[in-house]
Amino acid sequence: MSRVALVTGGSRGIGAAISTALKEAGYTVAATYAGNDEKAAAFTAETGIKTYKWDVGNYEACAEGIAQVEADLGPVEILVNNAGITRDAPFHKMTPQQWKEVMDTNLSGVFNMTHPLWPGMRERKFGRVINISSINGQKGQFAQANYAAAKAGDIGFTKALAQEGARAGITVNVIAPGYINTEMMSTIPEKVMNEVILPQIPVGRLGEASEIARAVVFLASDEAGFVTGSTMSVNGGQYLA
Ligand SMILES: NC(=O)c1ccc[n+]([C@@H]2O[C@H](COP(=O)([O-])OP(=O)(O)OC[C@H]3O[C@@H](n4cnc5c(N)ncnc54)[C@H](OP(=O)(O)O)[C@@H]3O)[C@@H](O)[C@H]2O)c1
Repeated sequence: MSRVALVTGGSRGIGAAISTALKEAGYTVAATYAGNDEKAAAFTAETGIKTYKWDVGNYEACAEGIAQVEADLGPVEILVNNAGITRDAPFHKMTPQQWKEVMDTNLSGVFNMTHPLWPGMRERKFGRVINISSINGQKGQFAQANYAAAKAGDIGFTKALAQEGARAGITVNVIAPGYINTEMMSTIPEKVMNEVILPQIPVGRLGEASEIARAVVFLASDEAGFVTGSTMSVNGGQYLA
């Protein structure tokens, strides 16, 4: 039987590329999403990957949702914590709500999803936890005190949990993508893209979601058992951590 992989925010953007690549690599995949039913339905129709709706910021919802996925597909052995949001504002204008929403989804969401799955991974002596952070969690970014703090938190979480999982056959790693060619990027004016963003990227282009997905497929594999606690930068050379 193939291993079961659960991808949060796996119905669109980078997450959709991750879900699809894991399916192509032979995993049974479940993808979660927050509220965009239309995109999720279209994704399932196109790929055959089952989608589930819950808020990763809600611990009980995560525990219930995971129980449902496991009842449908079997024990989850690979968890990709990809769901993420931005609520950008310069700090003097940032509201407590903007801070909280980003923390709830991008940092607490990683705890809420990993914690219910951890005992099963420990019992089975196998697990892969792959967190999707960001270059901005490594270097900071103007108007992203909330996002950078949460994404840096994901890196600390990874390093601590990798030490706990090592003896139980569980690896915990984090990927820090740079600028990736997703819907979010298509809203940036061409002038800003060409004159501000691209000159910062030595490789001279944006990354593709499929390039993040390939890194995930590697870290998920049985062969990657010696790679744990690592931060993999996939950023075209923009920031060398
Ligand atoms: N795009 C980039 O250039 C870039 C760069 C560095 C890091 N990242 C990180 O990569 C990850 C994916 O980014 P993306 O650009 O692909 O994002 P995206 O296109 O906006 O998709 C986000 C996904 O996460 C889901 N989601 C959001 N909040 C959620 C919540 N509270 N509970 C459950 N699911 C939730 C969304 O569900 P709905 O469809 O229902 O809204 C959607 O499936 C994020 O963690 C992001 O921070 C992105």
